[in-house]
Amino acid sequence: GTVPEHTPKEEFGDLVAALPRRQQSILELRLYQGFWLPEHWVPGTVVFQRRFSPRPDDVVLASYPKCGTTWLKALAFAAAARGAYPPAAPGHPLRRLNPHDCVPFIDEIFAGGEEAKLDALPSPRLMNTHLPYTLLPDRVTNAGGCRVVYVCRDPKDMVVSLWHFLRRAKPDLSFVETFESVCDGTVAAGPVWDHVLSYWRPSVARPDRVLFLKYEDLLRDTAANVRRLAEFMGRPFTAAEEAAGDVAAVVELCSFDEMKGLDVNKAGSGTAGRYCAMQRDAFFRKGVAGDWANHMTPEMAARLDGIIREKLQGTGLDF
Ligand code: A3P
Repeated sequence: GTVPEHTPKEEFGDLVAALPRRQQSILELRLYQGFWLPEHWVPGTVVFQRRFSPRPDDVVLASYPKCGTTWLKALAFAAAARGAYPPAAPGHPLRRLNPHDCVPFIDEIFAGGEEAKLDALPSPRLMNTHLPYTLLPDRVTNAGGCRVVYVCRDPKDMVVSLWHFLRRAKPDLSFVETFESVCDGTVAAGPVWDHVLSYWRPSVARPDRVLFLKYEDLLRDTAANVRRLAEFMGRPFTAAEEAAGDVAAVVELCSFDEMKGLDVNKAGSGTAGRYCAMQRDAFFRKGVAGDWANHMTPEMAARLDGIIREKLQGTGLDF
C-alpha cells in the first residue's frame, strides 16, 4: 500500500484541539460525540469510523475498560479458533501470548495507520474496542454490519479495578478521586451508564447482532457463557465437542488462575498494547466480584448504586 502523508494524530490534530478537555488522573480526556475519550484515542477513533469495513463474519468485542475485556478476548479467541488450536493443546497461543496480543484493539490499529494488519487477519476476525456502540462506524451497526459482543460489570468493582490499574502509572492516585470521576462521568470512555446503555438497547432490539454479557454471570457460569458466545459467533459446540470436554477446556484455559500463572503474564514479562503499554500482569489482579466492599464505604457504594439505578431506570437493565 501507499504510505500516508500524515499520521492520524497529525491529520486530526485540529479536530482534537477543538474538543472540550478535562484531566482525569494520568489521562487527558476529550469530549467526543458525547463520551470522554482519552485524547490519544480520538484520531484512531475518527479513522476507524471513516475507513473500517467489516466482513459479515467479523466479531467486535466491546467493553467498558476494566470490566472483563482481557477475559472476553481470551474466551472468544479460544472458542473461535478452536478448530486451528484445540483448547487443551499445550502449545495453544493463549499459553504463550497475552490475550491482548491475540485480539487487536481496532482503534489502536487505526491510530497507528496499520490497517493492513486487520486485512491480514483470518476470518472470522476478532477485534476489540472500548468505544460505545453509538461511536462504532455505521458500517458495523447498520443492517449489513457484523456481530458485536459486549461485556459489562458492576460499576463499583469497575472503579476498584480502574483505581488499581491507574495506580500503576500514578502510585499516589487517591481512590476517592477515581470514584468521583466515575460518579460524574468524566472518566475514560465515560459516562459509564451511557456506555452500558449504548449496548444494552441494541442487544434487546437485535439479539442476533449484539450479545450483552456481564462479568458476574461469566464468573457464576463460565461454561454456559462460552456456549452462548460460540453459538452467537455462528460456531456452536457440536455434540462431539461437548462429549470431548472442549467447553470445559476453554473455561480452564481462560481461567483467572491459569492465565495469571503463565510466564507471559507475570510481572516483568513486558507490556501489552501500545495505547497504554501496561505491564501484562496488570490485567490479572484479583478476578472476583464484590471487591468494592474492601475499598469504599457503604455510603459511597449506595451513592454510586443510586446514580446507576436512576440512569438505568425503565431500561430493563440492572446490576
Ligand atoms: P480486578 O482488577 O477486579 O481483579 P479488563 O480486562 O477489562 O482490563 O478488566 C480487568 C479485570 O478483569 C481485572 O479485575 C482482572 O483481574 C479481571 N480478569 C482478567 N482476566 C480474568 C480472567 N481470566 N478471569 C476473571 N477475571 C479476569
